[in-house]
Amino acid sequence: MLSTISRASVKPTQMASRAFVSTWNAVPQGPPDAILGVTEAFKKDTSPNKMNLGVGAYRDDGGKPYVLSSVKKAERLMLEKNMDKEYAGITGVPSFTKAAGALAYGDNSPVIGQDRHLIFQLAIAQSISGTGALRMGAEFFNAWYPHAKNIIVPNPTWGNHIPIMKNAGLSLEKYTYFDKQTNGLNIDGMLEDIHKAPKNTIVLLHACAHNPTGVDPTKEQWDQISKVIKEREHFAFFDMAYQGFASGDCTRDAYALRKFVDDGHQVVLAQSFAKNMGLYGERVGSFSVACADAEEKARVDSQLKIIIRPMYSNPPIHGAHIVSTVLNTPELKSEWLGEVKTMADRIITMRNKLRGHLENDFGSKKSWNHITDQIGMFCYSGMTPQQVDKIKSDWHVYLTQDGRISMAGISSANVKYLAEAIHNVTKD
Ligand code: LMR
Repeated sequence: MLSTISRASVKPTQMASRAFVSTWNAVPQGPPDAILGVTEAFKKDTSPNKMNLGVGAYRDDGGKPYVLSSVKKAERLMLEKNMDKEYAGITGVPSFTKAAGALAYGDNSPVIGQDRHLIFQLAIAQSISGTGALRMGAEFFNAWYPHAKNIIVPNPTWGNHIPIMKNAGLSLEKYTYFDKQTNGLNIDGMLEDIHKAPKNTIVLLHACAHNPTGVDPTKEQWDQISKVIKEREHFAFFDMAYQGFASGDCTRDAYALRKFVDDGHQVVLAQSFAKNMGLYGERVGSFSVACADAEEKARVDSQLKIIIRPMYSNPPIHGAHIVSTVLNTPELKSEWLGEVKTMADRIITMRNKLRGHLENDFGSKKSWNHITDQIGMFCYSGMTPQQVDKIKSDWHVYLTQDGRISMAGISSANVKYLAEAIHNVTKD
């Protein structure tokens, strides 16, 4: 009979001495994510004063994550309906995608509307929030864009845009956007770079509340951008992650997208409900393509399905049902529109307070106009990477290395502390 040694009787030292080279031995340590890595560092800090101004996630004035009342009511209605948990179709929950398209393009849009002549037919698929929509879009361009697969993105842009586009096989360059001198938009540089990009370049545009700068083109500037993109036969790829967060008004924030459609651009759009409905972890968004007619829409739909199915089969349904319930229930929709405005207004109040404390309480001699001039969730503060390191180590204030402050993470209770911290690290 073979003698067996029970596992419990093997001493740990004997087990450790067994010759063993892991298959993953040569896997190098990767860097932390530029945005989500900030939250990891923040969590490890034990200071009672610590502030997380890294990730763009809304907090209420008590600094707590905020679940919208319209969302809670929608979930209650969903519970009452005793809904099943069957798979959605590959392109998602139809009542969601229909309502999402209408919110972005407008009820009477020439892509979907009833009253006006349809110039496009919208192919739209539910996505894993904005990131998933962007990736789906990049994969679609890589597979089917009939020209060179070049995309240009603003400098700077949301950090994740770059690997999303490159990993899907697009070749990426940047166009001038932010002017460090004025902390505003360099419209001439932007128009020039878009103009000189090779014909048929894909141009990524932040529809509103530009991330990370908080600087958006004016309506007149959007009209100029639309014109140059048309002239050069480029293709407009909109990323709309913050509809409602720029001005507090979802219609106003959709100006650029709708203007481009009116100007006859055959746009594509990545849309997210993470911020404006506070559905961060639900991962709900959409990717849409303006198509020439119903027959083309059917072909595009079929290819979106072919992209989605091997990646994640079909999207999660809970968040989509929340959005659909809110947008398709008139009382909930109007409550939600009010809540979007409340969130945007709280951020504007924090901008005013932060600037006021810097200038009046701490007597900073620097110009802080940009804090109140910029819009949306972020303030591109102008702090250098060294100042960011210092505010983190000395004041326990966490933000991304580019000096971007997530304004939504500031509250009445800590705005003065933040102003003192910023003043201290920027005064020399
Ligand atoms: C951000 O820019 O902070 C957000 O879009 C969250 C993220 O995923 O990066």
